[in-house]
Amino acid sequence: MAVSRRRPGVASWALAMLVVLPFAVPAANTGVPLQAANTDVSNINSLQRGARNFVNYCMGCHSAKYVRYNQLARDLQISEHQLISNLMFAGGKTYEHMEIAMLEADATRWFGAPAPDLSLIARSRGADYLYTFLKSFYIDESRPTGVNNLVLEGAAMPHILWQLQGMQRAVFVEEEHDGTTYAVFEKFEMVTPGTMSAEEYDHFVGDLVNFLEYIGEPIQLKRRQLGIWVLIFLLVFGLLAWALKQEIWKDIK
Ligand code: HEC
Repeated sequence: MAVSRRRPGVASWALAMLVVLPFAVPAANTGVPLQAANTDVSNINSLQRGARNFVNYCMGCHSAKYVRYNQLARDLQISEHQLISNLMFAGGKTYEHMEIAMLEADATRWFGAPAPDLSLIARSRGADYLYTFLKSFYIDESRPTGVNNLVLEGAAMPHILWQLQGMQRAVFVEEEHDGTTYAVFEKFEMVTPGTMSAEEYDHFVGDLVNFLEYIGEPIQLKRRQLGIWVLIFLLVFGLLAWALKQEIWKDIK
C-alpha cells in the first residue's frame, strides 16, 4: 500500500494523460490565424490536379510511402496510361508505393532537417495548417534558404513554389504588452510577382492540400459513397420491417 501511495499507478498516469493530451496535440499552433483550406475529397478533378502538383513539385524531397500508384489511379479515375506518362516520372511499377530516392540523412545534411513523408501529414497537421503553410513563405535574408515561414518559424524547406506565387515580404508591427515589445504579423506584400495571380495560386495550393487530405485516408472516398447505400438500405429495410410488423400484429390486436 505504501508503495502505491508514493508512486502513481498506471491508472493515474492514464488519467493524467487523458487530461493533458487534448491540449498537447495541436503542436502546429503558432498563434497565426490559419486560413480555411475548404477541401472537398469528393471533387475528383481537384484531386487529379493535386496529384499532378504533388508529383511535380513535392516529390523531389517528400515521399508518400503509404500510397500505391495503382490505388491512386483507381480512386482518382486515372487510366494506367495517364498514370505512367503523367505521374510516374521515375519509372517503376504501378503497384509500388510513392517513394523517393533521396535519403533522409542526405536531406538533413542539405536542408538541416529531414523532409517528412507526407502520407499522413494532413492528419497530423490539419488541412488549414497545410494551406496556410504553403502560402506563408516570406523573404528573410538571414535564413540559408532566403525565406522564412510564418506558421513554421525557421522552416528548413525552401519556397518551392516561388515561381508560381512570387516572392512576398512580411510586414510586422510592434506591439507592447506588459513592457515587452512583440513583432506582430500584419500582412504580406508582394515584392516580385509570380506567374500565377493570387487567386490561381490559392486554387493550386487548395488542390494540393485536397490531395494530401485524400492520401491521409484514401478509403474515405469509398467510405462516403458506401455510407449513402447503407442509409438507403436501412431506410428500405426499416420500411419492410415496419410493414411486416403491421402484418403480423394485425390479427392479434
Ligand atoms: C527541396 C526539398 C523540398 C521540396 C521540393 C518540398 N519540401 Fe516540404 N519540406 C522540406 C524540408 C527539408 C522540410 C522540413 C522542414 C523543417 O522541419 O523545418 C519540409 C517540410 C514540409 C512540411 C512539414 C511542415 C511542418 O509543419 O512540419 C510540409 C507540410 C511540406 N514540407 C510540404 C511540402 C509540399 C506540399 C511540397 C510541394 C509543393 C514540398 N513540401 C516540397 C523540403 C522540401
